[in-house]
Amino acid sequence: MKKKISDIINKKNKQKIVCLTAYSKNIAEEVDKHVDIVLVGDSLGSVLYNYSSTKKVSLTEMINHSKSVRLGIKKSLMVVDMPFKTYSTKSLALKNSKKILKETKCDAVKLEGGKRVIEQIKFLIKNKIPVMGHIGLLPQSTKKFKSKGKTNSEIKNLISDAMLLQESGVFAIVLECVKTEIAKLITQKLNIPTIGIGSSVYCDGQVLVTDDLIGLNHTNIKFVKRFSNVKKYINVGIRKYASEVRKKKYPTKKHSY
Ligand code: KIV
Repeated sequence: MKKKISDIINKKNKQKIVCLTAYSKNIAEEVDKHVDIVLVGDSLGSVLYNYSSTKKVSLTEMINHSKSVRLGIKKSLMVVDMPFKTYSTKSLALKNSKKILKETKCDAVKLEGGKRVIEQIKFLIKNKIPVMGHIGLLPQSTKKFKSKGKTNSEIKNLISDAMLLQESGVFAIVLECVKTEIAKLITQKLNIPTIGIGSSVYCDGQVLVTDDLIGLNHTNIKFVKRFSNVKKYINVGIRKYASEVRKKKYPTKKHSY
């Protein structure tokens, strides 16, 4: 059965929420079998296009990849990242989130930031657009890969942003690279789930970039664990194909018209 937002919220304090990214139908099909949430992350900018920052990802790119992902999803909740500068004002945020929902048939959008974007988030929710929050390290706002929650002012801002987001009606919040004790505290304070990435086991759920965990994309980011090495299997198939073509073993009669 297709997951609803209420199913995700109801998991808090009962079951861990599993979330992964997908950028295309074939990966989405496999991810969908195992997770609760599929995120079309704007991380696709660095993972697929080698962009120096997610700021370069366009709305068209997000929509096109999301349309493909949609084809692979049967049961998970589908969330799409709103790219940089597509939600700088309330009206822009509404116009672009409506376009994303209409064209991709996703279930929700994700926006980066707390207080800074709270008016846009409230406006979307008032207009019945489901929103996932994202605080901590914000790739659309910084190039520096640094954990958050080390200084008193960072801790104060993280907690107040999390509370503001909850009050505005987001259904879950991604905590990226938030120090363990602060992620734990925020998770305990909130009634909605936190989804961690580099933010410890104390979050209600976990998200990773699928390409990183299956070994399709090579990265040395601290929070990434490689669970498989699909490049190895891809190479086996492609090497065999190339060798059979060169040796004229493929195509045979069976593969010819
Ligand atoms: O863009 C992305 O993939 C993300 C997650 C890693 C949280 O925002």
